[in-house]
Amino acid sequence: MKSSPWWKEATIYQIYPRSFFDSNGDGEGDLPGITAHLDYVQQLGVDAIWLSPFYTSPNKDGGYDVANPRDVDPRFGNLEDAKRLIEQAHQRELRVIADIVPNHFSDQHEWFQAALSAGRGSKERARFHFYDGNTDGTPPNNWISLFGGPSWTQVEDGQYYLHLFDSSQPDLNWDNPEVNEDFEKTLRFWIDLGVDGFRIDVAHGLVKEDVLKNHSDPQGLSNALRLDVAMDPSKRNALLLTVPYFDRQGVHAIYRKWRTLFDSYAGRDIMAVAEAWVHPPENATRYVRPDELHQVFNFDLLTAEFESKALFEVIDRAITLNATVSALPTWALSNHDSPRVASRIGSEQARALALFVFGLPGSAYVFAGQELGLPDGELADSDRQDPSFFRTNGVIKGRDGARVPLPWSGETTPFGFTSAKPWLPISQSWKELTIESELQDPKSSLHLYRNALNLRKDLMTGSGEINWIQSPGHGDKGNSLLSYTRGTVTVIMNLSESAQECDIDGRLLAVSNGTVEGHNGKKVIPARSSAWFSA
Ligand code: NOJ
Repeated sequence: MKSSPWWKEATIYQIYPRSFFDSNGDGEGDLPGITAHLDYVQQLGVDAIWLSPFYTSPNKDGGYDVANPRDVDPRFGNLEDAKRLIEQAHQRELRVIADIVPNHFSDQHEWFQAALSAGRGSKERARFHFYDGNTDGTPPNNWISLFGGPSWTQVEDGQYYLHLFDSSQPDLNWDNPEVNEDFEKTLRFWIDLGVDGFRIDVAHGLVKEDVLKNHSDPQGLSNALRLDVAMDPSKRNALLLTVPYFDRQGVHAIYRKWRTLFDSYAGRDIMAVAEAWVHPPENATRYVRPDELHQVFNFDLLTAEFESKALFEVIDRAITLNATVSALPTWALSNHDSPRVASRIGSEQARALALFVFGLPGSAYVFAGQELGLPDGELADSDRQDPSFFRTNGVIKGRDGARVPLPWSGETTPFGFTSAKPWLPISQSWKELTIESELQDPKSSLHLYRNALNLRKDLMTGSGEINWIQSPGHGDKGNSLLSYTRGTVTVIMNLSESAQECDIDGRLLAVSNGTVEGHNGKKVIPARSSAWFSA
């Protein structure tokens, strides 16, 4: 049985609209393309879709550079299309989560254009972070952009504006009450149109401190050019601990206000999930205190090794820390900012980890294409569009590989995604990974996801805790097996390169790779595979 409210233990399918399905033959996915394929999404067994931004945008950062947050970009359709998509999703009992981007606007937003012409000292500039440079003409401080290079750009009259991301994404000044007023208007706009929740982009970044001071970086960590998911985690954590623009106390007052707004829609169960890269992990739980947001992304599985100790620690910590604020964790193996899990840890390992994670309490996020086992796309530098590629002169390849459009059907690329040239090339080697081809193969990743997600709905949600099985070597580095029980189900993962025998008495419900054999009264779990058993 599904627990209430809907978001508590949901499976949420992340759609990157540009890469899902192109309905009008321009090479890019769009909202009608999503609406036309909601049956596919429903049959996967998910509870909700999260749509990455589809708002008016010059698209310098995949739509996370928003020029009008209350309208749809023509490349994706129009507001009527958005409304239809939401209605059609609701008819299939799918909730809809919109992505809201409060840290910055696009430089094409009317506020920024007005700030440029209004000049220094104006109320228009006070909505952003505009400052004069130092007397020697250098920017106000030494902060680096997360996409590489300085986080300041100079305008014609000599002032600089702050942008933690691309220069086309000026950061908003959240000390200015007009900013929150405008965002509350945007939240209401989409709730009134029917959305059920929000994913909050850079939720940890809205409040900046010491904007006129240099970031003291004795270890020279920011010479790494950037602060992102591809960094060595220990360096990233060290930076996260010291940068004065992330995870400031002031952000929590904003989310308390937003929570009141969400709760004012009685009976709607509006939820919000924070994208908050913070360190130490305890700090993440502050975003999900009972009067703040509902969920916070746990990004640890995006970088954890496929190894027993690392996975045990990451999973156990997420459950334990969330429990301190009566929240449930979230689980994500892939998203539009990270290498796809099949490329990062291997395709069998990715299936095993997905099945293992789908049994856990909390919400599971699935990035469209993950259910097919898609790897990262192979791209030439000339295909790339990610601003981090350009801002680091190609040193960082960027995130386009995870954003290659979905292969739907047929024998040749672009596999039914579009009748035109797709905005990123789809490799011919994905022929066996199309939705059509996987639907015909009972051993496919798509079948595994469908089975597992439907079983998860029936058996796993609502029954609360898990108990780790303390078999010899449990949670030790390099141990072959990791296992837990939840209610009457036992979930076991064999992380090793060889089949492993284990003492489990029960009926096989699902296995991620290969088949489970019985031997001497024991079960044999194939290499790099997970299985679920019922008592
Ligand atoms: C996080 C988003 O997921 C990413 O795609 C984007 O580039 C940055 N925030 C900036 O908005």
